[in-house]
Amino acid sequence: MIQTEAISLKEYNTFGIDVKALYSFFCKNEYELKEILKTDFTKKKKVFVLGGGSNVLFTKDTDDILILMQNKGIEIVREDDTNVFIKVAAGEVWDDFVDFCVKNNYGGAENLSLIPGTAGASPVQNIGAYGVEVKDIIFEVEAAEIKSGKKKIFKNRDCKFAYRNSIFKNELKNQYIILNVTYKLSKFPELKLFYGNLREELPSGKNIEIKDVRDAVIRIREDKLPKTENLPNAGSFFKNPVVSQDFFRNLTKKNPELVSFPAEKGKVKLAAGQLIDICGWKGKKENGVGVHDKQALVIVNYGNADGKTVLKFSEKIQKSVFEKFGVKIEREVLVYPDDVI
Ligand code: EPU
Repeated sequence: MIQTEAISLKEYNTFGIDVKALYSFFCKNEYELKEILKTDFTKKKKVFVLGGGSNVLFTKDTDDILILMQNKGIEIVREDDTNVFIKVAAGEVWDDFVDFCVKNNYGGAENLSLIPGTAGASPVQNIGAYGVEVKDIIFEVEAAEIKSGKKKIFKNRDCKFAYRNSIFKNELKNQYIILNVTYKLSKFPELKLFYGNLREELPSGKNIEIKDVRDAVIRIREDKLPKTENLPNAGSFFKNPVVSQDFFRNLTKKNPELVSFPAEKGKVKLAAGQLIDICGWKGKKENGVGVHDKQALVIVNYGNADGKTVLKFSEKIQKSVFEKFGVKIEREVLVYPDDVI
């Protein structure tokens, strides 16, 4: 049943923003979802799906129907000599799935350890870290169309994955609710150890195993990224900007210290955290909002800031980076309702 008593969303978003949702629906399984999508009420109103709330900034109360997917299940659906296909319900905590893979020695997800949020959200923004993106291990995505309730399978290619992007954030925004994601893991994993200081964090003098990679990634993340329980935040607030090689060449004449990562042909990806850091924002606080002192890409809600205050603060950062480098940094976090509905 759709709950019609307003609830606070403070507990349901990692920024800890206290807005109210008038209509909410905690969905435990596909059957419940099907029934809800059939009702006239759901057909007339807008629907917004919330996973772990780790990539959203609420700026106002909502009277859209908020669906919180809480379906559970991690199931091996197929395996062969080299691969194992694992179907994971959208409501599963992402890191519980990574832990399952690592404990069973299935490779591919270990670099994505400790990313907050749910499995259902993983394809939407193509989560990534330490040289791996979830698109590398997604086999297919099963979703229900909000309008008709009909289920559809999206193969990896159909999802149009790109850096922190997919079809679910673009053409199909707010049209489908992800039910399950099937991941393809390897029984003979090729470890990806080339990103940043990952190698330095790994034990020396022994064969590196999947578990060592998970442990190293957890150590790096725990050191750099603030825990949402103590310092509410939504991970990287901005995406790393992609610029042309020519632009980059010019930029590095004045700023030779700038790091870069490979991007699509003729382009270069810059580190937004470094740009923000150079602009002097690291550790700065204003009106209860600030930039994390160990990773400038993360905005922290230090007090009880509301969403609008956080948004305004983020816009000041964008402006200062643009003024210094001529680079526009886009939000990674979705602002509700502007970016969502
Ligand atoms: N840097 C600075 N100052 C900072 C932050 C970074 O100089 O305050 C420099 C670092 O020294 C490094 C470079 O920028 O040379 C890149 O930094 P880092 O390895 O920390 O990664 P990132 O590009 O800032 C991205 C992801 C993170 C992910 C890490 C590791 C995005 C938007 N962010 O951050 O993902 O954990 O790489 O792979 O792509 C997230 O999406 O929420 C997230 C945390």
